[in-house]
Amino acid sequence: MDHKKLTAFPDQFLWGSASAAYQVEGAWDEDGKGLSVWDEFVRIPGKTFKGTNGDVAVDHYHRFKEDVALMAEQGLKTYRFSIAWTRIFPEGRGEVNVEGLNFYQDLVDELIKHNIEPMITLYHWDLPQTLQEEYGGWESRQIIEDFTNYAATLFEAFRGKVHYWVSLNEQNVFTSLGYMLAAHPPGVTDPKRMYAANHIANLANASVINKFHELQMPGKIGPSFAYTPNYAIDSDPKNVLAAENAEDLMAHYWMDVYLWGKYPIAAMRFLEEQGWAPTIEPGDQELLESAKPDFLGINYYQTATNAFNPLDGVGSGKMNTTGKKGSSEESGVPGMYKKVTNPFVDRTNWDWEIDPEGLRIALRRITSRYRVPVMITENGLGEYDKITAENEIHDDYRIKYLSGHVHAIKEAISDGAEVLGYCTWSFTDLLSWLNGYQKRYGFVYVDRDEDGERTMNRYKKDSFYWYQEVIKENGANS
Ligand code: NOJ
Repeated sequence: MDHKKLTAFPDQFLWGSASAAYQVEGAWDEDGKGLSVWDEFVRIPGKTFKGTNGDVAVDHYHRFKEDVALMAEQGLKTYRFSIAWTRIFPEGRGEVNVEGLNFYQDLVDELIKHNIEPMITLYHWDLPQTLQEEYGGWESRQIIEDFTNYAATLFEAFRGKVHYWVSLNEQNVFTSLGYMLAAHPPGVTDPKRMYAANHIANLANASVINKFHELQMPGKIGPSFAYTPNYAIDSDPKNVLAAENAEDLMAHYWMDVYLWGKYPIAAMRFLEEQGWAPTIEPGDQELLESAKPDFLGINYYQTATNAFNPLDGVGSGKMNTTGKKGSSEESGVPGMYKKVTNPFVDRTNWDWEIDPEGLRIALRRITSRYRVPVMITENGLGEYDKITAENEIHDDYRIKYLSGHVHAIKEAISDGAEVLGYCTWSFTDLLSWLNGYQKRYGFVYVDRDEDGERTMNRYKKDSFYWYQEVIKENGANS
């Protein structure tokens, strides 16, 4: 088989970059915006690095034209950003806040003017605080209606202008970190509540996807899943089974629902034994199965390696879906798997594995299992970048990281994956939810840190020019 003939990126491939409202916008209380759960959470002492917050972030709200000009200079084909629900509906529902909607109209128009396809994420974790207080946010079925109304408002507002929509960003992360690990709002540590909230989020996701299709919106919609493919540490069947358990509980548990409307059987059986399984009410199954996303978005950063974990083994049973290891030897789910260190890959300064081949594996697994087009909605490297006296940033490590991943995508396309686009994380430097401004991901350096705002000036890193070339040649030399 002449495999390599298929390696070119398609002509319409969407070379992009991404951000999220809370991490870039700032203007946390301007123009009628309501408070989100993150506006509240960051004020709890000890929750974030040096108490950093997104009050000002990188001031994208006021500098979006400058940022879009930089995107145009780089040649971006798409820019993925999220809409702050609290700018549209300050209290989560009710009257539209026109000033808030206008900000996004202006941003979208500016992108279109520069031939950049806007990609909107409807929900990137900044739930209206009012909905949290009023009925417990994702723990109440009332959110299905409120989220669907919010989404429908945006669908109509941007009909014909915006063709790519992401429903929920990293549902697996915001439910696990919010309801099991207490690292995100609402700061709960209860697996049963986590699986219940997650089931409701699945219903809300399905409802919004159905609404998009009912309204006959021109364009495509899908969720973005944080996919950390699981490996076994070796070929000991016990370890291979552990990797299967991890893949079922940490990945299929979400992806099967998005694509098939069904929870994986072995994972569900485990949750039932623990008393953690969500309550499936009449009609839920039908709703989940009726929603057909047009693509699956994946945020890919790394893989995870697994070994056998006996019933009285390590871990609290609380899953670590961030893929962040930290105390990797201790993390696991007794009776299912434990996380171990992969001896074959390098790590970042935040101990995230660097595994470009894992992206090829991810794309192949998704293609074989679901036969669905994939949008890579995030991929990138968080590092301590240094700016020189000449205002240069030599981030060769980022170029190496990203070029490895671009090559892996090209290989996956040659394997048969249908990949619609690739969004790096992130375009400018931005707020890292828990790590402040020290952990930088952007092509564009922003002069600020956790101790203060400084000038907020933007400086192009070496990786900015590298990606500019990649885009220009449509990945031909990747
Ligand atoms: C996942 C999230 O979507 C994004 O908000 C976050 O900053 C990056 N990954 C990096 O951790």
